[in-house]
Amino acid sequence: MSKEIPNNSPKDNAYIITGPTSGIGRATAFELAKHGTIILVGRNATKLKALEEAMKQKGLKAVSIVCDVSDITSIQEAAKKIIALPFVISGLLNNAGIMQQQATKNAQGWDMTFATNHLGTFALTEALAPHLPDGANVIFIASAIEDPERKPAKIMGMKGGRFISIEASVQGKWKAGGAKLAGIDAYATSKQCILASAMAFARENIRLQFNAVEPGITRGTGLGAEGVNPLVHAIFGRLMSVIPPFSKYASTPEKSAKTITTIMTDKSNKTGVYFDEKAKPMLGSELSRDPKFQDRVVAETRAFLAKEGFRF
Ligand SMILES: NC(=O)c1ccc[n+]([C@@H]2O[C@H](COP(=O)([O-])OP(=O)(O)OC[C@H]3O[C@@H](n4cnc5c(N)ncnc54)[C@H](OP(=O)(O)O)[C@@H]3O)[C@@H](O)[C@H]2O)c1
Repeated sequence: MSKEIPNNSPKDNAYIITGPTSGIGRATAFELAKHGTIILVGRNATKLKALEEAMKQKGLKAVSIVCDVSDITSIQEAAKKIIALPFVISGLLNNAGIMQQQATKNAQGWDMTFATNHLGTFALTEALAPHLPDGANVIFIASAIEDPERKPAKIMGMKGGRFISIEASVQGKWKAGGAKLAGIDAYATSKQCILASAMAFARENIRLQFNAVEPGITRGTGLGAEGVNPLVHAIFGRLMSVIPPFSKYASTPEKSAKTITTIMTDKSNKTGVYFDEKAKPMLGSELSRDPKFQDRVVAETRAFLAKEGFRF
């Protein structure tokens, strides 16, 4: 049965944001809350409570759901709680993501970066999609690092996604010849897989809109700080800001928040679009644009999650 977004006051609508406790997600929570209640989905209950309070002090509405996006058991429980909330959910922003300098494993023993950025994001979307009203917007925060031809990424010695298969990625195995910088192959591959999935979802599900956003090189967020000495993280951030060719792609959490909010609240039913940091359509890597690759990623991910007992 089809569900439609009622044409009520914006306050009756809610938007889900994963990873709202820092960086781009946090800035977007404040910006998007001008259009409805925000369902804050994060892994840290204390941070979520503090954010919820900060938003309420500004007269914005938010509710918190604790969810570790790297863990399919946690996702399954959180999805049930989200579905039970008394809101019309107009959009889902899949923003939570990590970049690790040293690979770790999740609760199931899978590569933590791949579990967070691809498998968990994919699983949460699959669990929620049937419960979203017609025309709801689902946005994935991607990364241009997935593209081996992307100029700033090339300058930094990044080699794009290094996909072998979903099973190999789960085990933290990447195609040979990747980046020297630790963690980049896992990050680029996970982002390539979720971008490809977003484009496949857009083709197979005409009831909802599925789009992706490259937020630009955004300094001052926690990205890359996972398990890293704060000094190393600060130096990496400074390095990104001083290399001139990057300025064209530079953003801030606040600018990204405005871009994401514009796309999320757009009513023109655009789907299958990959937007840049200025909300203009952009091209992903050749591989991520290939429908055969997109369908393979979706089929292998669904098969893997089903084998592991994830119920859609
Ligand atoms: N910054 C950039 O230049 C850039 C460029 C391209 C794409 N991106 C993408 O933009 C998104 C936001 O990144 P950011 O730069 O804003 O980084 P950030 O400040 O580190 O924010 C990441 C958010 O994700 C949450 N998160 C991480 N792992 C999680 C998990 N297992 N379960 C639930 N939440 C989890 C974090 O929660 P905690 O607060 O608990 O850590 C935090 O709220 C990411 O998907 C990133 O890949 C960023």
